[in-house]
Amino acid sequence: MPQTIGVPKETWAGEKRVATVPEVVEKLIKLGFRVAVESGAGDAANFSDESYRTVGAQILDSAAGLWAQADIVFKVGVPTAEEVGLMHEGQTLITFVWPAQNPELMQQLAARKVTVLAIDALPRTLSRAQKMDALTSQAGVAGYRAVIEAANAFGRFFNGQITAAGKVPPAKVFIAGAGVAGLAAIGTAAALGAIVRANDTRAEVADQVVSLGGEFVKVEYEEEGSGGGGYARVMSEGFQKAQREMYARQAREVDIIITTALIPGKPAPRLITAEMVESMKPGSVIVDMAAERGGNCELTEPGKSVVRHGVTIVGYTDLTSRLAKQSSTLYATNLFRLAEELCKTKDGVINVNMEDEAIRGLTVVKDGTITWPPPAPKLSAAPPAAAAKPAPAPAKGHGHGKGGEPASAKSTAILFAVAVVVFCLIGVNSPPAFLAHLTVFALACFVGYMVVWNVTPALHTPLMSVTNAISSIIAIGALVQIAPPGQEISTGSWILWMAVVAIVLTAVNMFGGFAVTQRMLAMFRK
Ligand code: NAI
Repeated sequence: MPQTIGVPKETWAGEKRVATVPEVVEKLIKLGFRVAVESGAGDAANFSDESYRTVGAQILDSAAGLWAQADIVFKVGVPTAEEVGLMHEGQTLITFVWPAQNPELMQQLAARKVTVLAIDALPRTLSRAQKMDALTSQAGVAGYRAVIEAANAFGRFFNGQITAAGKVPPAKVFIAGAGVAGLAAIGTAAALGAIVRANDTRAEVADQVVSLGGEFVKVEYEEEGSGGGGYARVMSEGFQKAQREMYARQAREVDIIITTALIPGKPAPRLITAEMVESMKPGSVIVDMAAERGGNCELTEPGKSVVRHGVTIVGYTDLTSRLAKQSSTLYATNLFRLAEELCKTKDGVINVNMEDEAIRGLTVVKDGTITWPPPAPKLSAAPPAAAAKPAPAPAKGHGHGKGGEPASAKSTAILFAVAVVVFCLIGVNSPPAFLAHLTVFALACFVGYMVVWNVTPALHTPLMSVTNAISSIIAIGALVQIAPPGQEISTGSWILWMAVVAIVLTAVNMFGGFAVTQRMLAMFRK
């Protein structure tokens, strides 16, 4: 019996997003689910009831009716107490929950004997989880929108222009924090033609800033700011002082500052002081994306756009809702990818498999039991610590080997002796060149074996690309065969045509290998 996915209208004031869109409803139905949408749920994001109905969704008039009918509920906002009250035993809720910040809500959900998948608890370091990463998709939209808000409040062009009426210099934009939102903002501002600079405490993002068209501005103080898992940590007093000096310099020079600095579980770091705001040129703009967490700028007022010392300070906390159609579409796709993972059988019935690392990470309540926080992730590129070696088995069968030597060592010795004898026999009965080739071949097999078997499985894919490239050395052999040194090229020779085929196949291998490597690397680029 297929399950029904219910999509209620969001209830938080100002929330314009909706958890699924008509384009995705079609895909959910293909996965075997039935979809019910509350009337008006998509209105604020420009998706009418009719557009959902056309693709096969059922439209329900009341929220209560929808929560009662749905086996699975897709939502955007953290559920309110009223919404929790509408839940029934056995129901599954998938939405933003922020379990660390909402312990009471977690208790209320558990009391309803439901299962809750918190989309914000996704283990982001798992590459398989990227397609479900709603935090990333939403922060990307917010970073884009932050630049648009800045452009709206700024009285000039972003790009430099030379017109008959005079020369216009390009706007200078400084981005504080180059995480997901920061990188999206860098890309957008650079695409609009501005000169973009950025700073982050994590030195590893410098290359990404440059690849998006920005300039990375370093703090002249040696300290690494990575706290693991792609997040930052609180920096030392010395670093913070050096950073403040650099930010003060930037504030005097640039026209627009977009702040996105965040340290998980901590209040937003204060980066822009009142004096820095005062030192900015009149008409400058600050967009403080961290407004909701206290703000990166001292003068930010959350949810508002204010003018202080001639500088517009935008502290909107609903940047994603201000681009609701886009953010809803991306969020709906994230949830669809999650639905695919939950319903591998494509029969419209989900299985919350707690053995699956991604699903385990997301599941914060399972059938009424709080399962948050999840155990530490297992996957690592580093080889697992060697298991404690069992004590060597007592020697059996006295008389076999010296003092009861382990059987494997003995068999290796026998194998080695046999190989030496076989090698000698081949050597005596074959031409010297053959023996040389055979030695190289045997060594190549041995080295290949040692390389592949000693590499952690997580690193096999990049290793494959490298071996792919190396194996293309066949091309040299084929080229030598096409035109052997000192010989005429004969188009009638079958060796020549085999060499041509070998070159074609090697070329596929070579270029295909590089194309695959490029695609793999692209997955890691934000
Ligand atoms: P993220 O964790 O990917 O990026 C934050 C970046 O700030 C990290 O790269 C970190 O290294 C950097 N950082 C931390 N401390 C710093 C410091 N002292 N100096 C310079 N850089 C520092 O987070 P994400 O997803 O990019 O979100 C950024 C902010 O945007 C968050 O505060 C988030 O709550 C907010 N946000 C706001 C929205 C809105 O509507 N206003 C919507 C979505 C996100």
